[in-house]
Amino acid sequence: MAEDLYVSGGTKAERYVALFPQVESLLHSETDEVANLANVAAALKETFGFFWVGFYRVSGDELVLGPFQGPVACTRIHKGRGVCGTAWQEARTLVVPDVDAFPGHIACSSLSRSEIVVPLTDDAGKVWGVLDVDSNELNAFDEVDARFLEDMGRLLRRSTDKKE
Ligand code: SME
Repeated sequence: MAEDLYVSGGTKAERYVALFPQVESLLHSETDEVANLANVAAALKETFGFFWVGFYRVSGDELVLGPFQGPVACTRIHKGRGVCGTAWQEARTLVVPDVDAFPGHIACSSLSRSEIVVPLTDDAGKVWGVLDVDSNELNAFDEVDARFLEDMGRLLRRSTDKKE
């Protein structure tokens, strides 16, 4: 099966809408978590050209770097630390228009200017990881990204062993 993505033009929301069923189809027949996280990171990077797209997974009281696309990144983040650790602790999506204005932001790259972090939850509502997307531009993310990236998180729950 060809694995090319077909998303072109349109608004950001239209591109998410075009991408979503293609990601759904990519994940449909695969249950391996790393394979699916890797493809979601690649699909988002390829479609939107984000500076950094990747996953951190919960391991004990830390998040550990998982599949990602972009420059090398910090490998471990404590619960409650940085944007990722805060999104985990509070179990809610955080949109950060200016990373320098977020107390405790962890600068894996000095080029990152804004960020969105979406917690990934299992059926019981427990956070098992986060999806982190960084931009090298200020104010790159809004509620459109939040809505669609949260939907991607639900797709991942269904397509991995976090499913019902
Ligand atoms: N900036 C994140 C750390 C991860 S990197 O952006 C890839 C944070 O503050 O949690």
